[in-house]
Amino acid sequence: MKILVLNGPNLNRLDLREKSYYGDVTYSDISNAITSHASKLGLEVDIRQSNDEAELIFWLHEAADQKLPVIFNPAAFTHYSYAIRDAVVMLKAPSIEVHLSNPLSREEFRHTSVISGVVNGTIAGFGVNSYLLALQAMSDLVTD
Ligand code: DQA
Repeated sequence: MKILVLNGPNLNRLDLREKSYYGDVTYSDISNAITSHASKLGLEVDIRQSNDEAELIFWLHEAADQKLPVIFNPAAFTHYSYAIRDAVVMLKAPSIEVHLSNPLSREEFRHTSVISGVVNGTIAGFGVNSYLLALQAMSDLVTD
């Protein structure tokens, strides 16, 4: 089964972002780590990134139509996009929210996630491992 791995705004520019939160990991490191871990778990992944809210919503609609499981780092949209939340609600297969950093240990505006309440679970604060743990959890969810 294919798993859609969606990434929101600015995750393609981790090289320019706060090293204290994101370390030295780049978007391409994350993609490569996900691809290699997925293949060990026997999962097919389709990894995408967009800075555009509409494009992310379009991909969520595609996931809903095709009943695809979704691992999703909505980045800053996590904290305020009701449109993305509404699109996540339409998903038919399991969904997992991931974050590289731990938003609860950062600025107050990051303490709210409008996504957490409509996904199966959230994994945050483990860097690239957040995605790998999510793959493991998703593997269990889709093979249950
Ligand atoms: C993030 C956390 C968000 O608060 C932030 O806006 C991001 C990245 C993370 O992966 O830690 O862009 O989603």
